[in-house]
Amino acid sequence: MQVDVELKNVILETEGNLATIIINRPKALNALNSDTLRELDIVIDSIENNSEIYCVIVTGAGQKAFVAGADIAEMKDLNSTEAEEFGLLGNKVFRRLETLEKPVIAAIPGFALGGGCELAMACDIRIASEKARFAQPEAGLGITPGFGGTQRLPRLVGAGKAKELIYTCAMVNAEEALRIGLVNKVVPVESLMDEAKKMASSIIANAPIAVKLCKDAINRGTQVDMDLAIKVEAEDFGKCFDSEDQLEGMTAFLEKRSKNFQNR
Ligand code: CAA
Repeated sequence: MQVDVELKNVILETEGNLATIIINRPKALNALNSDTLRELDIVIDSIENNSEIYCVIVTGAGQKAFVAGADIAEMKDLNSTEAEEFGLLGNKVFRRLETLEKPVIAAIPGFALGGGCELAMACDIRIASEKARFAQPEAGLGITPGFGGTQRLPRLVGAGKAKELIYTCAMVNAEEALRIGLVNKVVPVESLMDEAKKMASSIIANAPIAVKLCKDAINRGTQVDMDLAIKVEAEDFGKCFDSEDQLEGMTAFLEKRSKNFQNR
């Protein structure tokens, strides 16, 4: 898949209905500087506008790191206004992934620290290798997490555990990340991408419009009270019945044949 500008720090690959985004600054353990965040934004544009893409994997180049955080060298001399802008840039890009109308799987080979853990948490599903390590080390650098960590970590693991991890900067291994619900699955590092692609294939086999609306219902519904949440669900449930794939999925079931979804 083509993007109009030359990318230096992000690679975009496509294979059938799957797009893979690779954060590619291995010398800095894939740390996110503002150029990388802007490239990520461009790549998300291109995926968003491509109706052939049904699912996305985000990963980091090499086996050592997913992303080792926001770029500390770039942040060191920022003033408060510049830092707020940098935080807003990261938050804007991550929120776009979180609300992208296609499911996003983080495939985490190694370190997912600070902004790296935050990037993983902005994805829908996280698959970690046995070597993955997670932390929000910001307080040890004199800052708060700035790309959503104070908001998404408590939503994923509960406020008590999130406070413990953020206040202590403790690093957790993949097994502990699985235990506390920070990741969905832990696999050997050699099979990480195969496992992520296998999960992507299982998603791609379903009706893309239904999957998109499931994501919307979960994202919107979990942010509001239950009375409103069930209305959100009913609204998305209703929208499915405007799609040809709803009729195809149910007809195929009743006719005992395999389904042929068209993303319409
Ligand atoms: N920013 C910039 N450069 C980074 C980086 C980061 N977050 N993480 C690693 N690097 C660079 C190192 O400076 C080093 O560069 P040089 O070779 O030029 O010296 C290179 O990557 C390799 O790193 P190390 O030599 O440190 O590798 P290591 O194996 O000894 O340690 C590590 C690995 C434990 C991951 C260590 O690199 C580390 O602790 N990194 C920083 C992690 C961190 O604090 N992340 C949070 C950043 S703040 C943030 O993300 C804020 C936010 O929420 C927006």
